Amino acid sequence: MDLNKKLAGLEKEVEELIPAAGSLDELEKLRVKYLGKKGKIADIFNNIGQVKPEERPIIGKKTKQLKLKIENMHNEKKAKMEEKKQKEKMKKERIDITLPGINPEMGYTHPLTKVINEIKDLFIGLGFKIAEGPEIEDGYYNFAALNIPEHHPARDLQDTLYIDDKYLLRTHTSPVQVRTMEKEEPPIRIIAPGRVYRSDELDASHSPIFHQIEGLVIDRDISFSDLKGTIEIFVSELYGNDRTIRFRPSYFPFTEPSAEVDISCIVCGGKGCSACSYTGWIELLGSGMVHPNVLEMSGIDSREYSGFAFGMGWDRIVTQKYGIDDIRVLFENDRRFLEQFN
Ligand code: DAH
Repeated sequence: MDLNKKLAGLEKEVEELIPAAGSLDELEKLRVKYLGKKGKIADIFNNIGQVKPEERPIIGKKTKQLKLKIENMHNEKKAKMEEKKQKEKMKKERIDITLPGINPEMGYTHPLTKVINEIKDLFIGLGFKIAEGPEIEDGYYNFAALNIPEHHPARDLQDTLYIDDKYLLRTHTSPVQVRTMEKEEPPIRIIAPGRVYRSDELDASHSPIFHQIEGLVIDRDISFSDLKGTIEIFVSELYGNDRTIRFRPSYFPFTEPSAEVDISCIVCGGKGCSACSYTGWIELLGSGMVHPNVLEMSGIDSREYSGFAFGMGWDRIVTQKYGIDDIRVLFENDRRFLEQFN
């Protein structure tokens, strides 16, 4: 075998193939083919015994030189290819800081929340605290402890969503009065906003789930004039100074005397319009002096203490304030509705 010729052939081959390698994989295959343990250079070294002894050092030297040359060519090509690959990667990963950003979707404050925040601030300013009670309520707190007799129509299945003999979904926020009086010593001044339930059909003006705000004040020497003064401040803060307030005698089992409070219509100012059913008045709340039976059942001495309470529809305050004519939108959480209030 003429190793000289073979070396020359190899050199030519390599000079063509290595620069032409199209990928790092291909290049690696070429490296194994020529420089690997069983590669072509190793093959020549293995066959060096076949040439004449005096030629061996020359062939040996030439083979080593070619080996070096292939190594250099390979390394150079590899470095170039790696650089190119890196550049391509950098190009792909480049961030264009001039592109517009992605705005995270924002939520909106529900109008019920906006209104209650305003009302809470107002009452906290008058020295009230915020109280809460369970929505799944013991029948005792919802009815009996509020002096509502056994056969009162409010207890009827038609109005009340019972869970079992003992528990129900509270039909009003008034049971929070009882829970507060049981827990706390007078003086008590609380408002208790919350969700309430009645077995009403859903339509534009009724919902089986709605909201109320309860108020309770218990102290020594609390009289009806304290109730009036508190309501007057509340109305003028929430609706402005030009509302006329009307107290109408009424009946609630848990208050004596009881009164319903109307304000002059916020749409027509009292002249009469469709918003107030042409009466000039809008019903705002029910109220009264806490019945001595209720105080006593909650462990408060009715000879020492007296108090007033009130309860109002929270949803209606919202629908009137924003001119909403369908109560259902308050429960649907449609962003298109909610975003109008921000
Ligand atoms: N709980 C009554 C209702 O749901 C509202 C109410 C009236 C609450 C008079 C009171 C009150 O605290 O004194 O219709």
